[in-house]
Amino acid sequence: MGEQSSAAADWWRQAAVYQIYPRSFADGNGDGIGDLQGIISRIDYLAALGIDAVWLSPFYPSALADGGYDVDDYRDIDPRIGTLAEFDELTRLLHTAGIKLIIDIVPNHSSNRHRWFVEALESVPGSSARDRYIFRDGKGAHGELPPSDWQSVFGGSAWTRVPDGQWYLHLFAEEQPDLNWDNPDVHAEFLDTLEFWGDRGVDGFRIDVAHALKKDLPDELPDEATLLEGTFADGEHPIWDRDEVHQIYADWRKLFNRYSPPLTAVAEAWVPAHRRVRYASPEGLGQAFNFDLLRARFAVDEFRKIITENLDLAARSGASSTWVFSNHDVIRHATRYGLPAAEATGDFGPPAARDWLKAGAPPEQEDREAGSAKARAATLLALALPGSAYLYQGEELGLPEVGSIPADRRQDPTFFRTEGEEIGRDGCRVPLPWTAEGISFGFGAGPAHLPQPDWFAEYAVSVQAGDPQSTLELYRSALGLRHQLQTDEQLEWVDLGDPQVLAFRRPNGWLSVTNFTGTPVPLPDGELLISSAGASETSETSETDSADRHGLPGYATAWLQQ
Ligand code: GLC
Ligand code: CA
Repeated sequence: MGEQSSAAADWWRQAAVYQIYPRSFADGNGDGIGDLQGIISRIDYLAALGIDAVWLSPFYPSALADGGYDVDDYRDIDPRIGTLAEFDELTRLLHTAGIKLIIDIVPNHSSNRHRWFVEALESVPGSSARDRYIFRDGKGAHGELPPSDWQSVFGGSAWTRVPDGQWYLHLFAEEQPDLNWDNPDVHAEFLDTLEFWGDRGVDGFRIDVAHALKKDLPDELPDEATLLEGTFADGEHPIWDRDEVHQIYADWRKLFNRYSPPLTAVAEAWVPAHRRVRYASPEGLGQAFNFDLLRARFAVDEFRKIITENLDLAARSGASSTWVFSNHDVIRHATRYGLPAAEATGDFGPPAARDWLKAGAPPEQEDREAGSAKARAATLLALALPGSAYLYQGEELGLPEVGSIPADRRQDPTFFRTEGEEIGRDGCRVPLPWTAEGISFGFGAGPAHLPQPDWFAEYAVSVQAGDPQSTLELYRSALGLRHQLQTDEQLEWVDLGDPQVLAFRRPNGWLSVTNFTGTPVPLPDGELLISSAGASETSETSETDSADRHGLPGYATAWLQQ
């Protein structure tokens, strides 16, 4: 392989990937739902942001029982979002702008409106149509009880009964029946689907719930308590993270490698750190999300440990590491960091943050200023790390979580299936504010499908663009500098003598320094390139407000060239 082509094949290793949640990005035709025309109209914005790739969350035909992760047809576009011709146009225009395209593949479950599931319901128990899903007879004298007491991830039973009395498994909403990955049709269907999009020109895939496809379901199923106890040896849990799942990805990899450059893939696998290695291996998907920073507090020890561990894991798997603070499933990091310090675990956001949402998101508990400072500092730190940075639409605006959405406007199945016990994920999916005025702040010509609060005006793109202190300009400058400075995937820790300051240097003298305390600390020698506390040239502000040669303000990151 020539030097140029191998460089091209490596494009993903240190890419900045921007996640678009299509229904909430930009609405081209004013029906309140974001669409492909909306994205096309914002390609200049994406190019100016300085990202390397776009990841599109699902745009497939869907009844939206789970925001589009309930897919009716894997090879088409929801007519409310666009057409295949528009998709091709978007792909072409992104490529012209030098931006790669990654799409979301949802292989663990289809929707209940998928032609296969419709056929399964029309077919008798034991038929080959039913074998593509996971159907079981119920328990009790008349099969009136579910096959097990398993709970779905979104709450409620993981089994739903069909009219002839059988039950089917759904780890998520009942509209998301789990596919049976022991069935060869399922394998063939997804290989065809991946090829369909590969041939259309997409550059890679994000694989939804990549750790659940293979299941071991004996006649007598273990109960929910046993599933949760977690006493299974690695790879032996009946549902999650079984070793056999990697046979699937080995087959996919062969297909990916038929393209030039090879298609890329990143696994969404909520597995312990050491188990990520196989998903990320070059014989498998090639990369896996590391959600450790997303679950961590803004605390120096946690960050140092997570970074060290993940760089090591990435090296062991042959992949590059990934860094994520926000996505469409979790409370936005500008808000997480602004809430009272709390236990920081929990896949869909720390319990304390979820409690805050449940309490109606009382504004007096949210410190927007501290949240914003810490979020900016954390992001600037991560953008200096070796590996790929995954950014979620709106975080470049410093957008906080929308805490108050009326119950009758909520969409997330988590909210309904837990009867409001979990507020759900709508608060990070509210359509973006592009302008300070307008019926949906420039999102489109009509009201947005999820209500936007008045304060969205302050965060609008039009308000931030050109303001050097804004979060948008911080992201633009940082992403631009990151391109110029990008270098080998190595990092050397630098001890600046203060345990609350985290500093590391890349091989070319690119130094990142983060102050995890609320008070200023001195900066080492070097040319100051950028600071999350504000642009250094606007130094009418006092020394504590902006980084300059004398110090780095509290909760801030600076990059220096040494
Ligand atoms: C993944 C997606 C989430 C979805 C779930 C079921 O976790 O990120 O949004 O609800 O899978 O498909
Ligand atoms: Ca629309």
